[in-house]
Amino acid sequence: METKERTFLMVKPDGVQRSLVGTVIGRMEKKGFKLVAMKMMHIAHDLASRHYEEHEGKPFYKGLLEFIASGPVVAMILEGDNVIEMTRSLVGATDPRKAAPGTMRGDLAVFTGKNIVHASDSPESAKREIALFFKEDDIYSYEQAHEGWLYD
Ligand code: RTP
Ligand code: MG
Repeated sequence: METKERTFLMVKPDGVQRSLVGTVIGRMEKKGFKLVAMKMMHIAHDLASRHYEEHEGKPFYKGLLEFIASGPVVAMILEGDNVIEMTRSLVGATDPRKAAPGTMRGDLAVFTGKNIVHASDSPESAKREIALFFKEDDIYSYEQAHEGWLYD
Protein backbone atom coordinates (compact mmCIF):
# COMPACT_ATOMS: atom_id res chain seq x y z
CA MET A 1 0.00 0.00 0.00
CA GLU A 2 1.54 3.32 -1.05
CA THR A 3 1.60 6.11 1.54
CA LYS A 4 -0.20 9.16 0.26
CA GLU A 5 0.60 12.76 1.12
CA ARG A 6 0.13 13.77 4.76
CA THR A 7 -0.83 17.04 6.43
CA PHE A 8 -1.02 18.33 9.97
CA LEU A 9 -4.34 19.76 11.16
CA MET A 10 -5.13 21.08 14.62
CA VAL A 11 -8.36 22.22 16.22
CA LYS A 12 -7.23 25.28 18.20
CA PRO A 13 -8.36 26.02 21.80
CA ASP A 14 -11.34 28.07 20.57
CA GLY A 15 -12.55 25.19 18.38
CA VAL A 16 -12.31 22.77 21.31
CA GLN A 17 -14.12 25.18 23.66
CA ARG A 18 -16.85 25.70 21.07
CA SER A 19 -17.37 21.93 20.61
CA LEU A 20 -16.29 22.02 16.96
CA VAL A 21 -13.87 19.07 17.11
CA GLY A 22 -16.39 16.63 15.63
CA THR A 23 -17.41 19.11 12.93
CA VAL A 24 -13.81 19.68 11.83
CA ILE A 25 -12.97 15.98 11.76
CA GLY A 26 -16.29 15.21 10.06
CA ARG A 27 -15.60 17.67 7.26
CA MET A 28 -12.19 16.10 6.62
CA GLU A 29 -13.59 12.57 6.72
CA LYS A 30 -16.54 13.41 4.47
CA LYS A 31 -14.20 14.95 1.89
CA GLY A 32 -12.38 11.63 1.73
CA PHE A 33 -9.26 12.14 3.80
CA LYS A 34 -7.99 9.45 6.12
CA LEU A 35 -7.24 10.12 9.78
CA VAL A 36 -3.93 8.41 10.60
CA ALA A 37 -3.02 10.04 13.95
CA MET A 38 -4.82 12.13 16.55
CA LYS A 39 -4.36 13.40 20.11
CA MET A 40 -5.72 15.95 22.56
CA MET A 41 -3.02 17.93 24.32
CA HIS A 42 -2.28 21.18 26.06
CA ILE A 43 0.55 22.84 24.11
CA ALA A 44 3.45 24.03 26.27
CA HIS A 45 5.01 27.41 25.55
CA ASP A 46 8.17 25.83 24.09
CA LEU A 47 6.22 23.75 21.54
CA ALA A 48 4.02 26.77 20.72
CA SER A 49 7.06 28.90 19.89
CA ARG A 50 8.57 26.16 17.72
CA HIS A 51 5.30 25.55 15.92
CA TYR A 52 4.85 29.25 15.13
CA GLU A 53 8.57 30.17 14.73
CA GLU A 54 7.94 31.63 11.25
CA HIS A 55 5.89 34.40 12.93
CA GLU A 56 8.49 35.41 15.52
CA GLY A 57 8.78 39.19 15.71
CA LYS A 58 5.36 39.89 14.17
CA PRO A 59 2.96 42.07 16.18
CA PHE A 60 0.53 39.21 16.79
CA TYR A 61 3.22 36.65 17.76
CA LYS A 62 3.03 36.95 21.57
CA GLY A 63 -0.77 36.87 21.62
CA LEU A 64 -0.76 33.92 19.22
CA LEU A 65 1.50 31.88 21.52
CA GLU A 66 -0.64 32.73 24.56
CA PHE A 67 -3.79 31.79 22.68
CA ILE A 68 -2.54 28.46 21.33
CA ALA A 69 -1.39 27.46 24.84
CA SER A 70 -4.60 28.70 26.51
CA GLY A 71 -6.44 25.37 26.54
CA PRO A 72 -6.41 21.89 25.04
CA VAL A 73 -6.12 21.40 21.28
CA VAL A 74 -6.78 18.34 19.11
CA ALA A 75 -3.87 17.60 16.80
CA MET A 76 -4.15 15.19 13.89
CA ILE A 77 -2.57 13.89 10.72
CA LEU A 78 -4.64 13.32 7.59
CA GLU A 79 -3.65 11.41 4.52
CA GLY A 80 -4.73 11.62 0.88
CA ASP A 81 -3.76 12.80 -2.60
CA ASN A 82 -3.11 16.57 -2.52
CA VAL A 83 -4.23 16.65 1.11
CA ILE A 84 -2.02 19.63 2.03
CA GLU A 85 -3.42 22.03 -0.56
CA MET A 86 -6.99 20.73 -0.36
CA THR A 87 -7.05 21.02 3.43
CA ARG A 88 -5.99 24.67 3.17
CA SER A 89 -8.92 25.19 0.77
CA LEU A 90 -11.34 23.46 3.13
CA VAL A 91 -10.06 25.53 6.07
CA GLY A 92 -10.34 28.85 4.20
CA ALA A 93 -8.61 32.22 4.45
CA THR A 94 -6.81 33.21 7.66
CA ASP A 95 -9.26 36.08 8.26
CA PRO A 96 -12.76 34.56 8.66
CA ARG A 97 -14.26 37.79 7.27
CA LYS A 98 -12.57 36.92 3.96
CA ALA A 99 -12.97 33.14 4.17
CA ALA A 100 -15.45 31.85 1.60
CA PRO A 101 -18.76 30.40 2.76
CA GLY A 102 -18.47 26.64 2.75
CA THR A 103 -14.99 26.73 4.30
CA MET A 104 -14.49 25.97 7.99
CA ARG A 105 -13.42 29.51 8.84
CA GLY A 106 -16.04 30.98 6.51
CA ASP A 107 -18.82 29.00 8.18
CA LEU A 108 -17.66 28.69 11.77
CA ALA A 109 -15.53 31.69 12.79
CA VAL A 110 -15.67 35.51 12.77
CA PHE A 111 -12.23 36.77 13.89
CA THR A 112 -8.61 36.18 12.75
CA GLY A 113 -7.27 35.56 16.24
CA LYS A 114 -9.92 32.92 16.86
CA ASN A 115 -10.09 31.05 13.57
CA ILE A 116 -10.60 27.54 15.07
CA VAL A 117 -8.11 25.47 13.05
CA HIS A 118 -4.52 25.35 11.92
CA ALA A 119 -3.43 23.55 8.75
CA SER A 120 0.05 23.09 7.25
CA ASP A 121 0.64 25.48 4.36
CA SER A 122 3.25 23.51 2.31
CA PRO A 123 4.92 20.10 2.09
CA GLU A 124 7.86 21.48 4.11
CA SER A 125 5.54 22.78 6.88
CA ALA A 126 3.58 19.52 6.94
CA LYS A 127 6.77 17.48 7.39
CA ARG A 128 8.07 19.83 10.09
CA GLU A 129 4.78 20.08 12.00
CA ILE A 130 4.06 16.33 11.89
CA ALA A 131 7.51 15.67 13.37
CA LEU A 132 6.97 18.35 16.05
CA PHE A 133 3.72 16.83 17.28
CA PHE A 134 3.93 13.09 16.57
CA LYS A 135 6.33 10.17 16.83
CA GLU A 136 6.41 7.69 13.93
CA ASP A 137 4.84 5.07 16.26
CA ASP A 138 1.78 7.32 16.77
CA ILE A 139 0.95 7.23 13.04
CA TYR A 140 -1.20 4.40 11.72
CA SER A 141 -1.12 2.88 8.25
CA TYR A 142 -4.31 1.08 7.31
CA GLU A 143 -6.52 0.58 4.32
CA GLN A 144 -10.12 1.79 4.23
CA ALA A 145 -12.59 -0.37 2.32
CA HIS A 146 -13.88 2.61 0.34
CA GLU A 147 -10.49 3.73 -1.02
CA GLY A 148 -11.28 2.26 -4.43
CA TRP A 149 -14.27 4.63 -4.55
CA LEU A 150 -12.09 7.66 -3.89
CA TYR A 151 -9.17 7.01 -6.25
CA ASP A 152 -8.48 5.13 -9.49
P1 RTP B 1 -2.56 28.76 10.69
O1 RTP B 1 -1.05 28.80 10.57
O2 RTP B 1 -3.04 28.88 12.11
O3 RTP B 1 -3.16 27.59 9.95
O4 RTP B 1 -3.17 30.03 9.96
P2 RTP B 1 -2.76 30.62 8.56
O5 RTP B 1 -1.67 29.78 7.95
O6 RTP B 1 -4.01 30.80 7.80
O7 RTP B 1 -2.21 32.02 8.96
P3 RTP B 1 -0.73 32.44 9.41
O8 RTP B 1 -0.32 33.59 8.58
O9 RTP B 1 0.18 31.25 9.47
O10 RTP B 1 -0.99 32.98 10.88
C1 RTP B 1 -1.04 32.09 11.98
C2 RTP B 1 -2.16 32.48 12.90
O11 RTP B 1 -1.82 33.72 13.51
C3 RTP B 1 -2.98 34.49 13.71
N1 RTP B 1 -2.83 35.75 13.01
N2 RTP B 1 -3.19 36.90 13.51
N3 RTP B 1 -3.69 39.64 13.91
C4 RTP B 1 -3.18 39.24 12.76
O12 RTP B 1 -2.90 39.98 11.85
C5 RTP B 1 -2.92 37.83 12.59
N4 RTP B 1 -2.38 37.26 11.53
C6 RTP B 1 -2.33 35.96 11.80
C7 RTP B 1 -4.16 33.72 13.16
O13 RTP B 1 -4.76 33.00 14.22
C8 RTP B 1 -3.49 32.76 12.20
O14 RTP B 1 -4.26 31.60 12.02
MG1 MG C 1 0.10 29.27 8.98
